[in-house]
Amino acid sequence: VVQVTRTVAEVRERVHAARRAGRRIGLVPTMGFLHEGHLSLIRRAATDCDDVVVSVFVNPTQFNDAADLAAYPRDEENDVALAASAGATMVFAPPVEEVYPAGFATTVELRGPITETFEGAVRGPEHFWGVATVVTKLFGMVQPDVAYFGQKDAQQCVVVTRLVTDLDLPVELVICPTVREPDGLAMSSRNVRLRGDDRDRALALVDGLDAADAAVRAGETDVAAVESVATKAMLARGVGPDYVAVVDATTLAPLERIAERSLILVAAHVGPVRLIDNAVLDRS
Ligand code: PAF
Repeated sequence: VVQVTRTVAEVRERVHAARRAGRRIGLVPTMGFLHEGHLSLIRRAATDCDDVVVSVFVNPTQFNDAADLAAYPRDEENDVALAASAGATMVFAPPVEEVYPAGFATTVELRGPITETFEGAVRGPEHFWGVATVVTKLFGMVQPDVAYFGQKDAQQCVVVTRLVTDLDLPVELVICPTVREPDGLAMSSRNVRLRGDDRDRALALVDGLDAADAAVRAGETDVAAVESVATKAMLARGVGPDYVAVVDATTLAPLERIAERSLILVAAHVGPVRLIDNAVLDRS
């Protein structure tokens, strides 16, 4: 039976007791409404660690749009059952006041292109500052040995990796591959808001990635040409991208030629939902 904890004092007490017993603690930070993507992180954590804490917290500071925050799907009871089935030993589901009590005044700001470009350009760098702040807090609250993030949110992974390095946070990061529906759509809690034709149009993102991958495998090395192939594939499904960009996978710096560690990032609005996806471009 999975224990649900709601306070920092309680989660710390449990984690400290586990650590004193020599147990390795994994943290899977989530905003709930768990899907197969989260469960793959929890399963991986359960393989590597003795105890797995899944945090379920819809973090208000990373939403730039109140309507998006209000529409964010929630189902805690189901999340607890799913987390347990995937191997979690604890769910940490604090109320907003526990994470941001009266007087809260600190924001973790990362400067420069990693928070200002792509999702940071669309949503504002404050989105990533919100993520960085809550992730720093979760690391402080739970004090895990290792934390698990999904490659689906590629820019978030770059931001969190930078943050852990810059602040010397004593936590190991594991980035796990994107989990997809059978037809290729990347798993996301937002997918439930895709209705009717939009579900099919959402495949535009993976179509774009596949077209780029095929072009690179066929020998294309010019980034502008690869981006154009991906854009055309998306438009063929009736979806205009917010951005299509081939970048360095570690720094997100733009590239002119396909390099060893190239990543293609795509984002688009499909009906009421904004979707993102990415893929490593492999020349072999
Ligand atoms: O990826 C998410 O679900 C969130 O950004 C995270 C990492 C749980 C922080 O709120």
